[in-house]
Amino acid sequence: MKIMVVGGGGREHAIIKKIKENKNVTEIFALPGNGGMASDATLVPIGAKEIDKIVDFAVKEGIDYAVVAPDDPLVLGCVDALEAAGISAFGPRANAAIIEGSKVFSKNLMKKYGIPTAAYEVFDNAEAALEYVKNCPIPTVIKADGLALGKGVIIATERDEAVNAVISIMKEGKFGASGNSIVVEEFLEGPEVSVLAFTDGKTLIPMVSSMDHKRALDGDEGLNTGGMGTIAPNPYYTDDIADVCMKTIFLPTIDAMNREGRSFKGCLYFGLMLTKDGPKVIEYNCRFGDPETQVVLPLLESDLLEVMMATSSGNLDKCEVKFAKKHACCVIMASKGYPEKYESGYEITISPEVLSSVYVAGAKLDGGKLVNAGGRVLGVTAVGETLEDAISSSYAKCKKIHFENAYYRSDIGERAKKALKGD
Ligand code: AMP
Ligand code: GLY
Repeated sequence: MKIMVVGGGGREHAIIKKIKENKNVTEIFALPGNGGMASDATLVPIGAKEIDKIVDFAVKEGIDYAVVAPDDPLVLGCVDALEAAGISAFGPRANAAIIEGSKVFSKNLMKKYGIPTAAYEVFDNAEAALEYVKNCPIPTVIKADGLALGKGVIIATERDEAVNAVISIMKEGKFGASGNSIVVEEFLEGPEVSVLAFTDGKTLIPMVSSMDHKRALDGDEGLNTGGMGTIAPNPYYTDDIADVCMKTIFLPTIDAMNREGRSFKGCLYFGLMLTKDGPKVIEYNCRFGDPETQVVLPLLESDLLEVMMATSSGNLDKCEVKFAKKHACCVIMASKGYPEKYESGYEITISPEVLSSVYVAGAKLDGGKLVNAGGRVLGVTAVGETLEDAISSSYAKCKKIHFENAYYRSDIGERAKKALKGD
């Protein structure tokens, strides 16, 4: 079988490595992929948002199955376009990807169907929004409606920050059209959990839970990033909480989408906060999370490609999805300075014995050498019998990877370790 994966980051590398385990796979194409995946997939220089070119390529190459991993092409209708050309694909259609593409849509969906989430107001007028944030409780959370590279959420701990956020998003167009509407919502507190789930619109199978580390610096200090590391499973997510989430959040969400005529097929990502009033939805994503995927898929014992194809064909109920009862930790090695300014073009060396644990994101081939070409350069994952084992082995592997100005947090998983000890 010829497989095509749309996207080019660490998440896509993790998907590609897992799909490769299927014996029927003869070739995997990555569009565009990155230089660090060249030994696992054939790189095709087509961008993830170039929908027409993606479809053309798939048809000409005779692709048997496509995986559309990032949010942008899903929201732009990549799966719809592939299906129209007769190519089966993993991921939601555009009318369901809106669950991530528009925060106004997802908040209104949750309100309409009684799915627990932070209280909120929607504004499409800057003056009304300013009037509101001048009096609302602080801290407050301001979210641009549309996609904003994960940067469209501002937690304002001072009123000035809230006012400035409204001005920069709605008046100065910081996120372009994504900020034409905003959501202003209640600030929630509690441990955060990421749960990815396979769903074909009828059956929903949650994957092992995980914990992201979004801040740039140790101790959860510094700026928000795309994610500096993950561990799985998330110790805060107990079986009892999982049951509550299934009943009050997961199944009601797929039911709500069906009732809206927007059946969701693919990977639905639930960003949850475990508040003292119970689990609440912080955000939905219409795709695998990054870097959650880099700890979730290494624990998957079932055949990923088979599960994905069952999801697309509506046969998920006939599929077994098993995860190892082990622990995984992924440490992201970034370019120093990320998420702000950083230098690139430095050669990356990876000891051969750790190559299979590395998921490359921001790197490219330059005259045959792999060099850093992005903020988050690569993720290093280890699986262990205990969380401690997974963490220490992941950090030991990081020591076998070198590039100038490499930076990584030194405390990935520490909070989870404390939670396991009951602190
Ligand atoms: P997002 O880009 O939607 O993942 O949001 C980024 C981060 O902002 C989340 O991971 C949370 O830590 C935080 N966040 C989002 N919404 C809220 C909220 N209502 N209350 C507290 N924190 C939030
Ligand atoms: N790790 C968060 C995300 O993928 O959006």
